[in-house]
Amino acid sequence: MVAEEYVLVTGGAGFIGSHTIVELLEKDIPVIVVDNMTNAVGGKEDDELPPVLQRIKSIVPPEKSQRMVFIKGSYGDEEILAKIFTKYKVSSVMHFGGFKAVGESKKLPMMYYSNNLGGSMKLIQVMQKHGVTKMIFSSSATVYSEPGPEDLPLTEKCPTGNCTCPYASTKYFIENMLKDLCHADPSWTVISLRYFNPVGAHPSGSIGEDPKGIPNNLMPYIAQVAVKRRSHLDIFGNDYPTKDGTGVRDYVHIVDLAKGHTAALDVLDQKKGFVAYNLGTGVGTSVLEMLKCFSEAVGRELPFKMCDRRPGDVAEVYCDPSLAAKELNWRATKTVADMCRDLWSFQSKNPNGYAS
Ligand code: UD1
Repeated sequence: MVAEEYVLVTGGAGFIGSHTIVELLEKDIPVIVVDNMTNAVGGKEDDELPPVLQRIKSIVPPEKSQRMVFIKGSYGDEEILAKIFTKYKVSSVMHFGGFKAVGESKKLPMMYYSNNLGGSMKLIQVMQKHGVTKMIFSSSATVYSEPGPEDLPLTEKCPTGNCTCPYASTKYFIENMLKDLCHADPSWTVISLRYFNPVGAHPSGSIGEDPKGIPNNLMPYIAQVAVKRRSHLDIFGNDYPTKDGTGVRDYVHIVDLAKGHTAALDVLDQKKGFVAYNLGTGVGTSVLEMLKCFSEAVGRELPFKMCDRRPGDVAEVYCDPSLAAKELNWRATKTVADMCRDLWSFQSKNPNGYAS
C-alpha cells in the first residue's frame, strides 16, 4: 500500500489557515495541522481539537474531514517537526504560522524576528533534512516598498523591502531566505502568496476571523461594532487623495484566498525555484464604502468617528492579480457584498468568536 501524502499546514487554526484546510479536505487532500494556539482559541484539554477544527468537521463531510491530523505545537519546534516528518509522508508545507500584529511588532521586534524568522529557519532546516522541498508561503502585500499612486496597481515586479515595521520585515526576510535557498538548491520550489486584505468568513458562518484582544484591522473591528462589543469605528483619516478621502484597499474574500492556495498546490510540482503571486481582486474599496456595505448586510447604520490618520498607513493599495490568473488559473470571484454578508453571518452567530 502506498503511504498517503500529507500537506503540513502550520498555523492551521488561524483565519487563513483554517479556511484553506476546508478547501484542501474538500479536494480529498489529507492535512496535518500544527498550531501552538498562542493566537487562537484552544480546546479545554491539550489533546482536544480546538473549536475551529471541530467546526471544520461540521462543514466538510466526515469521510474527508477524518483525514485531518492535529498536533499542538510550534512550527519552529524541531523535535515536534522531526516526529511529524518521520511518522507521516509529507509532500509539501503550507506555512501560515507567524505573528502578524503591526503595532505589537514595533514594541516587541525580537519576539517577531525570533518567532517568524527563527521559527521559519528551523522549519526549513527540518524540511531539508527530510527531503521535503516544496512550500507555499503566506506572504503579504506589506512586502512591497511603500507604494505611491504611480506604482498602482502593484505587480509582482514592484520593488520590495524598506518595510515600515518588523512584522513586514519578517515577511520580506523570509521571502529572501526562501529565494536564496531556491537558488542554491534546484530541488526546492516555493510559491509565495502575497495577500492583499483578506476578509469575510466561510459562507456557512461556522468559521471566520476571531482576533485576540482589540482588532487591528478594519473589518473585524466593524464586525465587533455591529455586535456592540465596540462602541463605534474610528476611521483613520478622511483627507487622503482618494475617491472619498478615506484609505483604499484591495479586499479579498477569505474563501477566494483559500482557493488561491489549492490553485498554487496544483502547480507546485511543475514550478521551479521561487515564484511570488499577488492574491487580490485588483479593485480598490474605501473605508466608507466598506462601512456602508457592511451596514447594509447588518441592516442598520453603524456608528463611526472621523480621526487622524494612523501612522504608517498609505492612501491607496490594490494589486494587479493577472499573474495569478495566468499561471495559477486563479481569480477572485466574490464581491465586497459577499465578504460583508459572510462576515456578518459568522459574527452574528458567534458574537464572541469561538468562545461564544
Ligand atoms: C494592515 C497592516 C498590514 C497587514 C494587514 C493584514 C498596518 C499599517 N498595515 O494593512 O501590514 O499586512 O493589515 O491584513 O497596520 N482602518 C480604519 N479604522 C480601523 C482600522 C483600519 O479606518 O479601526 C482603515 C485603515 O486606515 C486602512 C483600512 O482601514 O485605510 C484598512 O486597514 P487594515 O484592515 O488595518 O489593513 P491595512 O492597513 O491595509
